[in-house]
Amino acid sequence: MRIAISTGGGDAPGLNAVIRAAVLSAVDRGWHVLGIKRGYAGLMGDDDVIPLGRDQVRGIGHLGGTILRTTNRGNPFEYPVKQPDGSYIEIDRSDELIENARNLGIDAIISIGGDGSLAIAQKLARKGVRIVCVPKTIDNDVSGTITTFGFDTAVTTAMEAIDKLHTTAESHDRVIVMEVMGRHAGFIALHSGVAGAAHVILIPEIPYSVDKVCEAIEERERRGRSFDVIVVAEGAYPKGGEESVIGDSLPGQARRVGGVAEGLARQIGERTGKECRSLVLGHLQRGGMPTGYDRLLATRFGGAAVQAIEDGKWGHMVALQSPDIVTVPIEKALGMPRRVDPKHDLVRTARRVGISFGD
Ligand code: F6P
Repeated sequence: MRIAISTGGGDAPGLNAVIRAAVLSAVDRGWHVLGIKRGYAGLMGDDDVIPLGRDQVRGIGHLGGTILRTTNRGNPFEYPVKQPDGSYIEIDRSDELIENARNLGIDAIISIGGDGSLAIAQKLARKGVRIVCVPKTIDNDVSGTITTFGFDTAVTTAMEAIDKLHTTAESHDRVIVMEVMGRHAGFIALHSGVAGAAHVILIPEIPYSVDKVCEAIEERERRGRSFDVIVVAEGAYPKGGEESVIGDSLPGQARRVGGVAEGLARQIGERTGKECRSLVLGHLQRGGMPTGYDRLLATRFGGAAVQAIEDGKWGHMVALQSPDIVTVPIEKALGMPRRVDPKHDLVRTARRVGISFGD
């Protein structure tokens, strides 16, 4: 048996732990493993395919990033190709990918990625590719699994940033607005905001009103608390408004969400007269060593993906449905994007401890 592993989309802490576990589980069965570099680029002549054995995965489980590299511009069905005039067209190179995989004797592929990679895997599975998926995203927005690896690390990084902002905000009597990742989901903002005791949390699932945010700040002021830490998810937007977008996406790349914090801080300053600052936590949330939780989940997912291949679970994704690791059809994961339920216990708990959602 010869299997290949691909990591696609934005990286997430824990990817190397999945690779390590999958390789060791496969080698334990006497299988051969190949690593496809940079998403599927290695299967399309744009990068390498490398052998992966015990030596290649030794000592990588605690490392962030991915030893295979990744890309969020490598959809083989819409592959961006530069034209002589500098413009790009997107072409379907999936047949070429399949042919190259066949020539390399690849019997099955493990695709580690988020919703974009899952959608690609689903299309490849429909074309007969024997593929199983491992869900990966710091955003935690994949359905069918209770959580994804990378999320806990991102939450921890954001929480630690909130802790630090508390002290400087308090020293200066300032409002500090911190923007966190998550695209259209507010999980990172909600979890880090509650864990870090932010005063206001703004998420896409609960559109906010700037007036309500200012009311919360003024209410704290009346109670003698003259500083505030606001955590805003990059995809959060005001009632009746739209999410902020960064206008420099590259060909083949999804629309980039973000930039909400700066304008929000300005608006709050104008309305309350308070001194406001903003920051975007950015890719710090994706970097660094995975937490113990993420390493464990990633290791379980890597082992389960190899088991799924042994069981012939083509077109399935491994998933955490506590306490078990199960497999679910990719369709189920893609059917409904996972979002914060505004009625979830964590939202209600946050409200009970005095956190405002600006609604
Ligand atoms: O999906 C993961 C994620 O980190 C999002 O939270 C964020 O919007 C996006 O990727 C950033 O992508 P890039 O690395 O292309 O800036």
